[in-house]
Amino acid sequence: MTHPADQDPPSELALRIAKAADLVTVALDALLPRSDGPEQRLTEAMRYAALGPGKRLRPFFALEAARLFDLDERSVLRAACALECIHAYSLVHDDLPAMDDDDVRRGRPTVHKAYDEATAILVGDALQSAAFEIMAHPDTHEDGQVRADLVYRLAKASGARGMAGGQMIDILGFRDDLGTVARMQRLKTGALIAYAFEIPLVLAKAGEVERHALMGFAQDLGLAYQIVDDVLDVEGEADLLGKAAGGKDAAKGKANYVTLLGLDMAKERVDLLAQQAKTHLDPFGRQADYLRDSVDFVLDRRH
Ligand code: IPE
Ligand code: IPE
Ligand code: MG
Ligand code: MG
Ligand code: MG
Repeated sequence: MTHPADQDPPSELALRIAKAADLVTVALDALLPRSDGPEQRLTEAMRYAALGPGKRLRPFFALEAARLFDLDERSVLRAACALECIHAYSLVHDDLPAMDDDDVRRGRPTVHKAYDEATAILVGDALQSAAFEIMAHPDTHEDGQVRADLVYRLAKASGARGMAGGQMIDILGFRDDLGTVARMQRLKTGALIAYAFEIPLVLAKAGEVERHALMGFAQDLGLAYQIVDDVLDVEGEADLLGKAAGGKDAAKGKANYVTLLGLDMAKERVDLLAQQAKTHLDPFGRQADYLRDSVDFVLDRRH
């Protein structure tokens, strides 16, 4: 079946997303360490993991939401790069044999395949440190309080009450319990997606109305995003996805919306969440049109 996206010229939104991705890749390339010393294998593998062809959606959301406020783009971009480092680290560790045991990521061998397991563990460690080094650097914002707030919230979003905690629930594979699955999704995927919106909220010292709107949006979007990922695990084409598919989650005994509710109900849930997410943006009016449109764009993905 041909997808409309294969025929139509890229929409303004698609171009905007691509432009944000390029901006972030160039910035990350400049921010990530290089070395010609004996530790060069690590810095090379970090670059392999972080600069590979990912969608850079979290940075896109940070940059796009920042347009709702009057913000210095350099601050947003550095913070978005820090977030992308955490995301890249989470994928490297997620693919390890002790976790999802995957051989392909972003259309290329996973880090432990291209290098080795010890290197992949260290890549995760060092990308996590790189994230906090970038965020805490004075170039991110002149006010130390603002930087501390960004660091604190990123630590929370990536740790035991965020991504890592969600990954723990995922590995334990609780079944027949939609409540626990919802919690897992909120932590393992939702927390880092929500952080993309924390960046402009913190930088703008935004008020309760804006915070409530963007956090509500992020929560629904984050959950929908992971459900789509779980649907693609069943229905997606590995070549397009750039990672394994073919019902790998179910075969590994994972619990998610698809294994629990089935494909049809999972997709209905995605539609409902997409509607709900857009409604949260009402306080921003037309100003949030690109964000609103990005919901269908990112959920209607094939990779
Ligand atoms: C994959 O994230 C892992 C999930 C949380 C679903 P992305 O779909 O954003 O992966 P990349 O960064 O584009 O490779
Ligand atoms: C990943 O969820 C969530 C992370 C925090 C990395 P998945 O395990 O479903 O992501 P993929 O399918 O490997 O990208
Ligand atoms: Mg996983
Ligand atoms: Mg995985
Ligand atoms: Mg998946």
